[in-house]
Amino acid sequence: MVDEKPLYDGSFSVVGGNFDNAGEVSSNIKTILKKIGLPSDIIRKAALVAYESEINIVSYARKGMIRLCVSPQCIMIEAIDEGQGIPDIDLAMQPGWSTANQKIREMGFGAGMGLCNIRSFSDVFNISSEVGKGTHLKMIIKTNSNTLQ
Ligand SMILES: Nc1ncnc2c1ncn2[C@@H]1O[C@H](COP(=O)(O)OP(=O)(O)OP(=O)(O)O)[C@@H](O)[C@H]1O
Ligand SMILES: [Mg+2]
Repeated sequence: MVDEKPLYDGSFSVVGGNFDNAGEVSSNIKTILKKIGLPSDIIRKAALVAYESEINIVSYARKGMIRLCVSPQCIMIEAIDEGQGIPDIDLAMQPGWSTANQKIREMGFGAGMGLCNIRSFSDVFNISSEVGKGTHLKMIIKTNSNTLQ
């Protein structure tokens, strides 16, 4: 049904540069999805998508938010930030391409795999970005509604 109430709809803020709490939002998202009772393979995909999006906001943006919206048919994850933006999206999507600085690399990030993994784990993937303004990712992961309680 189109006008069905979502099982969950909420947003979490992410602070740029705050590596101490990086991963907290995606961990909360994982907990919510477990409580809903989704299958573990679906949760794993959504958690990865949320985690990579969150780390990118922490690494490359001033601030942002991640929205989680769960319906019986799908999980929608949006990551919207205010920051430097991405000058060349095609390049940024390429596996192994990264502008991560020394600090980000010391934290264990910067392999240039985040965006391409987000895309491959999503059934629908959209990215838009404006240099000097920010970046908007929208991902949809289909769920098998039969398995919902
Ligand atoms: N939210 C964002 N704002 C600005 N630039 C971004 C953002 N997300 C990604 N980028 C740019 O795209 C590049 C590729 O991102 P991607 O997540 O694929 O790899 P990475 O973050 O460099 O390394 P990894 O994710 O493997 O730790 C980044 O190095 C950065 O230049
Ligand atoms: Mg990344």
